[in-house]
Amino acid sequence: MHNLHRVVSCLDNLQRPLCDLRISVTDRCNLRCTYCMPGEAFGRDFVFLRHAELLSFEEIVCVAQQCVALGARKIRLSGGEPLLRHGVERLVEMLAGLHGDDGKPIELAMTSNGTLLAKKARSLKDAGLMRLNISLDALDENIFHRMSGSSVPPGTVLEGIAAAQSVGLTPVKVNAVVKRGINEGEILPLVRHFRHSGVIMRFIEYMDVGNTNGWRLDDVVTSSETLARINREYPLTPIEPHATNEVAQRWAFQDGSGEIGVISSVTRAFCHTCSRLRLSTDGKLYTCLFATEGVDLRALLRTKFTHSDDDAALRQRIAATWHCRTDRYSQLRHEMTEKPPGRIEMSYIGG
Ligand code: GTP
Ligand code: 5AD
Ligand code: SF4
Ligand code: SF4
Repeated sequence: MHNLHRVVSCLDNLQRPLCDLRISVTDRCNLRCTYCMPGEAFGRDFVFLRHAELLSFEEIVCVAQQCVALGARKIRLSGGEPLLRHGVERLVEMLAGLHGDDGKPIELAMTSNGTLLAKKARSLKDAGLMRLNISLDALDENIFHRMSGSSVPPGTVLEGIAAAQSVGLTPVKVNAVVKRGINEGEILPLVRHFRHSGVIMRFIEYMDVGNTNGWRLDDVVTSSETLARINREYPLTPIEPHATNEVAQRWAFQDGSGEIGVISSVTRAFCHTCSRLRLSTDGKLYTCLFATEGVDLRALLRTKFTHSDDDAALRQRIAATWHCRTDRYSQLRHEMTEKPPGRIEMSYIGG
């Protein structure tokens, strides 16, 4: 009976269960990818969150515990760049102790730009991190600089990827956002580079997230185009998803040299299976990547805990937020003619 209550209590308004929690641990990043934090919009005078505004690790763990009690089985740390958050390994260690009511540990992963990873991979693994997804849009130095808005060489990211693999933060997935006219010529070099390596290369349709990237539909290289390009050189076969709520469609190389993925949030929306809740750096819950408003938990977390029911109050606020959820932005995108103003930024909510 108790279990039945738990499961029923965390379905949203469209009957989708709460399964994943994505936690943004900083809104800062050392890169300025054109599709996420373009340098013109995130310049020297951009005001990032102050330290006092960030949730502490203890506060983050309180929220994560209650999400787990409501059914979440996967936690992903993101940013900005999560490795810029001082002492993030300690947070990993704290979250790695969480278990579901079936006694199994929560799946704990991170999405990073990889630039700081070579030094940190070992300590992240030791702290209990299980997997890493790493962004890399190009191998060509000039194209990488153009996409990432920085002078960091792509070799630094490759070193990070190698470090993640060597310490066993596997399977490592590499994410490339594809922008027409900029890095579509990098699709095959990336595929060639990571075949036979165990790394799963994934190509992402450029999304209209945030307010600053100047997105145009014409800039989107569709997953079908990407797949056709790869399939011509390396024939592919579709493979089953790991989970019904996985964002990537998986394809295997017919010659057995590995697999790739495509993430088609523009041309093939996956809102109907979306089970992701997002916690921003400053403690707001967002029920969609394209949301304009979040539900503040920080004030509740910071009212002095005087009552044994405080955890219950937090759980209740999270459950109520999930219950009301009707988001399916990507499915509605085609019907929308204008962008709503004031959307959250990708770097603030972490993708
Ligand atoms: P896995 O656990 O490895 O499947 O991770 P993931 O693919 O869910 O996470 P990752 O951070 O690597 O994100 C890959 C891409 O999918 C990024 O471009 C994200 O912005 C996008 N993405 C992840 N979740 C959602 C979502 O709920 N909606 C949309 N539209 N895009 C998403
Ligand atoms: N469209 C698609 N993916 C994006 N990401 C960041 N901005 C966008 C966008 N506009 C991806 C990053 C990273 C992940 C967290 O989100 O490449 O891999
Ligand atoms: Fe930074 Fe990732 Fe955004 Fe690029 S996509 S600017 S690496 S947070
Ligand atoms: Fe989920 Fe919103 Fe993305 Fe749809 S657009 S998959 S509801 S986060």
